[in-house]
Amino acid sequence: MMTANHSILASFLLVFILCLGSAQDLSCENCRGGNLKCIGDTTLQSVTDEDCSICLKSGTKWTWPCSVEGLCWCWDSTKPKFKPPPASQYEEAEMRPCDIFTEEMFNVTAPNAIHPYTYQGLCETIDMINERYDEKIFKMGTLEQQKNEWAAFLGHTTHESAQYTAAREALMCARTVEVASGTYCRPCANDNFDWEDRYCEISLVANGQYFEQYCDKIVTPPHGCVCGPTTEVDNEELKGLMNPNFAYFGRGAIQLSWNANYIKASQVLAESADTLCSQPDLVATEPKYAWGTAIWFWLFHKPTADASTCHIQSLEGSFGGSLNVINGGLECPADPMGYHAEAIVTRLRYYCIAATIVGVQRLLDFEGCEGLSSAFEECVTTGYCPECNDWYLISKTELEVEPTVVPAPEGPTSPPVPFRSWADDSWMNSIQRSDSSVRTRKVALITMGSILLSSVLLSVVL
Ligand SMILES: *[C@@H]1O[C@H](CO)[C@@H](O)[C@H](O)[C@H]1NC(C)=O
Repeated sequence: MMTANHSILASFLLVFILCLGSAQDLSCENCRGGNLKCIGDTTLQSVTDEDCSICLKSGTKWTWPCSVEGLCWCWDSTKPKFKPPPASQYEEAEMRPCDIFTEEMFNVTAPNAIHPYTYQGLCETIDMINERYDEKIFKMGTLEQQKNEWAAFLGHTTHESAQYTAAREALMCARTVEVASGTYCRPCANDNFDWEDRYCEISLVANGQYFEQYCDKIVTPPHGCVCGPTTEVDNEELKGLMNPNFAYFGRGAIQLSWNANYIKASQVLAESADTLCSQPDLVATEPKYAWGTAIWFWLFHKPTADASTCHIQSLEGSFGGSLNVINGGLECPADPMGYHAEAIVTRLRYYCIAATIVGVQRLLDFEGCEGLSSAFEECVTTGYCPECNDWYLISKTELEVEPTVVPAPEGPTSPPVPFRSWADDSWMNSIQRSDSSVRTRKVALITMGSILLSSVLLSVVL
């Protein structure tokens, strides 16, 4: 519990930080003068600009609507009406994001990337977003902070998109069927899906069944796209297939899913909320949305009102904090027997790979996600994460340095694992995305094989 004094102090600090942080102010604390207008965000609650005008008066901080963070925000009416993301307290950096993470690095990170995951699309989307806001992705703080934010983003998105080879969630649409009338998908239950050849034996919309996954019917615009059950296409030739534009399953670099998230991303990235509501498949086809939804999530998404964003967590030095925002409920901690224990392994491996490619000095910390530090330690010591060996040694060396003693040489570090070796790790690519399901035995067997191999490697090192 905070005492009264503490909360007064805390609110002073908050005001102080908000003033320092950014000219774009997410309360209306300093929204006086010239072209500044305190306006309401109707995508959060029904609120009018007039309701928000009281926030300019003193002593209204704890009164609705001023008491709800971000419900009223300060708009400079000489600029387009883009509500800014939550602010970090960092200064804008000099270096352009795509001068840090180059095309060459992208090619090494994503040797098998498919459309829409293009490097040019990534850079254009970053520049488009950074043009609009004072808070800038991959362009705040020191160069090292910029690199660290890149590495964290790349680690998460490489994992989420199966190394940029999947634009749509595999179970829902591993293979599209393209005909003159459009693109169709064959949604599948895990038990009927052959992960080896990515084929669905029995479609979820076969025999007149309704499909309504990822549709929360309680939320409606502006809080969520209108959605409802859908069925197979009414055409003899297209039996067992559904129109992907009727479902909000996982798509894009961070696997945007659910009708509530599609509308929020659309409000930021598209001209209107309706764009991604009526055409969610754009996230799987257009670079602007495939990358943009991940960037939206990174900068804007907060699981609860008082939580932080991935962007702020990365700048503050926490990889664990960013994972907690993305998948805290399932991975912080992960059920040791479930799919997510394995998901953490691939996430960590991809993070280590990205950190090496981008060339950070050290990994961000694993605080903020329960169990992640020990998952990292276990992953390295059991040989699951060979790409992390050097990073692990660096973190150990730092902890063990004694000022009076010259640190003993660590011995040779592992021979660098060639980066392309994991590109052929088919078990990583075929890992299923669905959060509720268990992994197939086949995958487990292949994993066992790679553990054995890696333990041999590691034992040579140790
Ligand atoms: C990256 O890969 C693409 C596609 O293979 C190629 O066209 C491009 O020249 C490569 N860029 C660099 C800098 O290696």
